[in-house]
Amino acid sequence: MNEKSVACACGLGLAVTACSLFVLSCKKVKDLESKCEKLQRQLVTINEERFRLKSPGIFITQREEDVNSTKPIVYHPIGVVRSIYPARNFTPNQPSRAPSGRGRIDLVIDGKSVEDLEKFSHAWVLFHFHDNTRAASKTKVLPPRKLDKKKVGVFSCRTPTRPNPVGLSLVRVEDVDCKARQIQISGVDLIDGTPVLDLKPYIPQHDAPKDPVTVADWVKVSSDSSADFDTVEIAEKVYKKLLQIKIKKFGPYENLDQVTKTLLEIIRWDSRKRHLKQEHQDKGMGEWVFRVMNFDWVLQYIYDPTRPLDPPIVRCVDVVPLGKVCLDQGKVVYL
Ligand SMILES: C[S@@+](CC[C@H](N)C(=O)[O-])C[C@H]1O[C@@H](n2cnc3c(N)ncnc32)[C@H](O)[C@@H]1O
Repeated sequence: MNEKSVACACGLGLAVTACSLFVLSCKKVKDLESKCEKLQRQLVTINEERFRLKSPGIFITQREEDVNSTKPIVYHPIGVVRSIYPARNFTPNQPSRAPSGRGRIDLVIDGKSVEDLEKFSHAWVLFHFHDNTRAASKTKVLPPRKLDKKKVGVFSCRTPTRPNPVGLSLVRVEDVDCKARQIQISGVDLIDGTPVLDLKPYIPQHDAPKDPVTVADWVKVSSDSSADFDTVEIAEKVYKKLLQIKIKKFGPYENLDQVTKTLLEIIRWDSRKRHLKQEHQDKGMGEWVFRVMNFDWVLQYIYDPTRPLDPPIVRCVDVVPLGKVCLDQGKVVYL
């Protein structure tokens, strides 16, 4: 064997080894891919099971042909809401309740995706009710302010506790900053940290029906645009204290008028739990502390002794830095 044929044989050997290695690694990749697919299928089944267990009573056995179209779906949030409302309590129950309530959506996706959104005055925000304390296990719920106290189907109202905890709010688009990936919004009924699933411009041509609109009778009462309290006041002491605070501490607001306007919009709606309302009514007065715009606000509900069934006067009597005041057995305590 001469040198040339040795080199040829070596080259061939190397090529064969490389080919076999390549075939082997392809097989390994294929094996791994099929293992991955199998695991993913298992994960879907497990999630599906967890999903059903979390909402017993709502999901019923599916028909064979429905199974594929009702498999769990995983979505990744496109952003997160930064809001003046840190908690569910005192967060308006719809955007129209406190139109000046401000928020911001911090996007986690490319800012180009919201180019042109600033040309729309309003947008739909689809979000996940991440702070629900209960999984939906009931098919019927009692919406707030429903006078006859009769429950309605979960899909006939806007309760956050629903089989898929997805919310839908129509907010005002104040500003869109594609570079900073931020959208300033107002008319917010979302708490801080709410994951955003989707945004869609509000297009009245498509979104506002042309034919007559009807709603259930109870909605006419419960969603009446007149506020719960006719008289809402801010005490002089609060105005004086507000003047001492730097405006940027209140979050997105630019001046005190905006802060007080928002405060009045929020407290004119009754956010007290039913038993507290009753307790306050029986006593002829009540106290409350709530947190919004980075401060704790102290409220008093004062009933007219001659007309105890009439709505009380609501007075904001103090504004306090976070954590310096709390409510203990219905009484305001300064810490
Ligand atoms: C009645 S829901 C309506 C939300 C939306 N406009 C809708 O119709 O789907 C509004 C209430 O949900 C609660 N909420 C807001 N953000 C939430 C969140 N991320 N997780 C759980 N509850 C939330 C607040 O208590 C707020 O008053």
